[in-house]
Amino acid sequence: MADVKILGIPGSLRQASFNRFALRAAQSLLPPGASLDLFELEGIPPYNQDHDKQPPARVVELKARVRAADAVLFSTPEYNYSMPGVLKNAIDWASRPYGDSAWQGKPVAVMGASVGMLGSARAQYHLRQCFVFLNMHAVNQPEVLIANAAQRFNDKGELTDETSRDLVRKLLAELVAWTTRLGKR
Ligand SMILES: Cc1cc2nc3c(=O)[nH]c(=O)nc-3n(C[C@H](O)[C@H](O)[C@H](O)COP(=O)(O)O)c2cc1C
Repeated sequence: MADVKILGIPGSLRQASFNRFALRAAQSLLPPGASLDLFELEGIPPYNQDHDKQPPARVVELKARVRAADAVLFSTPEYNYSMPGVLKNAIDWASRPYGDSAWQGKPVAVMGASVGMLGSARAQYHLRQCFVFLNMHAVNQPEVLIANAAQRFNDKGELTDETSRDLVRKLLAELVAWTTRLGKR
C-alpha cells in the first residue's frame, strides 16, 4: 500500500528555527509506510479577502500541497502566548474562499518548540481551537511540548533530547494510525 503522505508545516520563518529542526527530526522518526515533506511559509503575503478567489501563487501552491497530503503536521512556536501571525495567516489563506478550504477533513497533529518552560502549549491550544471550525481531525495524544528548546537541540540543529525524540516518534505513529483509521489515504 502507498505511504501515508504527511505535510509538515513549520510556523516560523527563522532560518535556525527550532520548529523546523523538530520537523527535520521527525523525518527520521517516521514509522514504516509514511513520508514527511515540509512546506515553508516564506513568501505568503498578508491575507486579503479581496484576493480570495485569485490568491497569490504561494497560496495556490500551499493549497495544492495540503490537498495532495494525507495528513498535516504543524510544528508551532509560541509568540505572545499564541501561534505566530505567519502561521495563522497561512491557515486563513488556505481556508478560503468559503467552501473551498484545503484543510477540510484533514487528519492533523501538532507539536511545538519554544525557549520557554511550557514548550508552546498555549500556541498549540489556539491552533487546536482553529481545527474545530476548519473541521480538521486532530490527534490528541501525545502532546509534544519541546520546552527550553535551546537545550534540546545541538549546534547542528539536531534534536538530541531522547524524551522529545520519543514523543515525536509516538506522535507520528499515532498520526499515521489515525489517518488510516479515518480512511484518508
Ligand atoms: C514575538 C515573539 C514572542 C514570543 N513569545 C513567546 C511566548 O509567549 N512563549 C514562549 O515560550 N516563547 C516566546 N517567544 C520565544 C520563542 O519561543 C523563541 O523565539 C523560539 O525560538 C521561536 O521558535 P523558532 O525557533 O521555531 O523560530 C517569543 C518570541 C518572539 C519573537
